[in-house]
Amino acid sequence: MTSTTLADPARLKANNPCWCGSGRKFKRCHGPSLERVRPGTVGPRRPVPEGIVRPHYAEHGGRSRRDVPDVQDTATLAAMRRTGRDAARVLRDVGAAIAPGVTTDALDALCHQLCIDAGGYPSPLNYGDPGYPKSICTSVNEVICHGIPDSRALRDGDIVNLDVTLFREGVHGDTNATFTVGTVDELSRGLVRVTRECLERGIEAVAPGRPTSDIGQAIQSHAEAEGFGVVRAFTGHGVGREFHTGLHILHYFEPRDETVLMEPGMTFTIEPMIALGAWQHRTWDDDWTAVTTDGRRTAQFEHTLVVTDDGPEILTLHPDGEWSGFPG
Ligand code: MF3
Ligand code: CO
Ligand code: CO
Repeated sequence: MTSTTLADPARLKANNPCWCGSGRKFKRCHGPSLERVRPGTVGPRRPVPEGIVRPHYAEHGGRSRRDVPDVQDTATLAAMRRTGRDAARVLRDVGAAIAPGVTTDALDALCHQLCIDAGGYPSPLNYGDPGYPKSICTSVNEVICHGIPDSRALRDGDIVNLDVTLFREGVHGDTNATFTVGTVDELSRGLVRVTRECLERGIEAVAPGRPTSDIGQAIQSHAEAEGFGVVRAFTGHGVGREFHTGLHILHYFEPRDETVLMEPGMTFTIEPMIALGAWQHRTWDDDWTAVTTDGRRTAQFEHTLVVTDDGPEILTLHPDGEWSGFPG
């Protein structure tokens, strides 16, 4: 049987010719890119200046309140437009620093400073239980999400997701993108492209009166048509004055959500995580880093949106109108 999808596992048999056309065995060519990411050293917590207004969990940790409205008033929405746009700027600017040899901790230092320079607080810092120790999530290769920046230097051929959330004017703007490091293999580039398309398909399903299940259906059908899998354990979420509300936006079709209807003014994220192989995860001993069970790569893209009478409005678009992060 022949398969035409990028994800065809026959491409990854150790002794088969490498899919890249080099004529060498896969294990001698692109095989080493399957090497697992290992934890590095996590540096000390970075301080936030006195003058910056903090979210409620900044000092003692803890999660969001889930029982808050997902439909925003005009003033909250105006604040979310400003904060979302600056979150997109931070993501773009941290992404520009990506290169082989740069540590994920150096990306954290940059994100931390850019959030402060924007007059805001980096939402991940001390969020949750245990409190997340850094200001950005850096998820390399088979890390699905919530990778903690550490001493590991990025390598030629890696893919890395940067997830930036900025808290300012009392609201969060949450956005992420997957970037390529140096020269990246065709299969991984295909994964990144399809994942971005999955976010686009999900956004296109946003309209008042439609069920939230339409978003997951659109994403799942595109991912699976390309031979990829949808991560189930992590979802999009309501966002606004709280980081994560009780509204869950699934990236696969869930019939129970056919009765959850989108309303004008509703704000949430869409953030599909798409896998080359297994979509199931394990969590590292740090209680945060989620990796695929088979060690194969995943990619992710995220925007914060509001439902308008006319359809979706992306709140985390970069001011130049371009999507942040896509490596061309
Ligand atoms: N930004 C992530 C999301 O998209 C959440 C990160 S929580 C953290 O929902 F604590 F890990 F930063
Ligand atoms: Co999010
Ligand atoms: Co995010």
